[in-house]
Amino acid sequence: MTVTVGIDKIGFFTPDHYLDMVDLAHARGEDPNKYLIGIGQSKQAVIPPTQDVVTMAANAASQILTPAIKADINMVLFGTESGVDNSKATAVYLAHLLGLPANTRAIELKQACYGATAGLQLAADFVRVHPTAKVLVIGADIARYGLRTAGEVTQGGGAVAMLVTADPTILALDAISSYHTADVMDFWRPTYRTEALVDGKYSTNVYLDFFKTVWADYQAQTQRSIADFSAFVFHLPFTKMGRKGLRQILPEADEPQQASLTAAFEASQADNREVGNLYTGSLYLSFLSLLRHGTLVGGERLGFFSYGSGAEGEFFSGVLQPDYRSGFDDDFLTRQLADRQAVSVAEYEAIFQQQLSNDGRDTQLAVGQERAPYYLAGRQHQQRQ
Ligand code: CAA
Repeated sequence: MTVTVGIDKIGFFTPDHYLDMVDLAHARGEDPNKYLIGIGQSKQAVIPPTQDVVTMAANAASQILTPAIKADINMVLFGTESGVDNSKATAVYLAHLLGLPANTRAIELKQACYGATAGLQLAADFVRVHPTAKVLVIGADIARYGLRTAGEVTQGGGAVAMLVTADPTILALDAISSYHTADVMDFWRPTYRTEALVDGKYSTNVYLDFFKTVWADYQAQTQRSIADFSAFVFHLPFTKMGRKGLRQILPEADEPQQASLTAAFEASQADNREVGNLYTGSLYLSFLSLLRHGTLVGGERLGFFSYGSGAEGEFFSGVLQPDYRSGFDDDFLTRQLADRQAVSVAEYEAIFQQQLSNDGRDTQLAVGQERAPYYLAGRQHQQRQ
């Protein structure tokens, strides 16, 4: 008997401050439409020193975990490129914070923005072999390029948490996918740097080339075509990037299908436009945005393009389940975004410089403004508090 495996629940967390891209454009001497239309971003999450990828992941995961689910979790796969330790996995800190059972495998996965997709596919294969297993998959990151860089408008941050099980509530993953790896220097962050290095224009071209490659390979493997899909979901470092990806494959002749795929894309970029890049989590925030703002019904097939610079690309697909809306808390997510407060450019620049230092000194962070259940209080004796 074939086991249906996929995404059962999704949670999402982003901190409670944002920077308006019109304010940033004015401060940087750019036309606001370059950011709003040319890049396709309206706001960007501003990450305080009191949130790192572990605490953001805990805040996202706690939305979807009940005591009964926690007791059944066998594995935590944590995709991130903003790790807090070169040895100890973020997944181990997370498992402890969430109170998961000790008989859990807890591992961190790294390949730029692709890490959570690696986690999702490994989790799905694991559950296919062990159908009673439940796996927690995380994509959490802080996208940092630096003040006054070309990449600054594409920063952001947050965490997505997904529960992967048999008989999933949201999405049944197809077992076939297509992937491609090549050693490319489009974006990287050596261990001595807190900000990424990027060859921006080149990275956008590599993204589109990888999409072309894996989409062609997927079609050859499955004999499916664009007509078999109700939506395509993209890794969104900025929303214009996914728009370019979609344009690359839209049929010229078929007007009705073009309109419905474009409408689905608009739904899938709505939340990312408000948060910015969250690297590993971006594709899955876009999926959640599509579920929240789109008009899909159970039984429709969705295509996903995951891209991690350096580089790895994967195209995979899945079938939406009838009761998918019960797999996430729509009201909570709407409130979380709506309740955020704007910061000025000067406040954002100050917060940007306040990241927990790399010198190992004992630090007590000001946590008075934190509203999230999990936060970083500082560092004592070389240990995160
Ligand atoms: N009104 C409307 N549009 C305008 C405009 C205006 N007044 N002024 C400019 N634009 C448009 C430009 O025409 C351009 O559109 P197209 O891309 O469609 O040609 C767009 O705004 C951007 O303008 P520029 O190309 O001049 O922008 P830039 O040189 O400042 O850099 C960037 C843009 C390369 C994306 C830069 O922000 C960057 O390096 N970002 C980080 C790298 C990145 O995100 N790469 C994505 C692929 S890699 C990946 O996906 C992994 C990951 O997460 C990092």
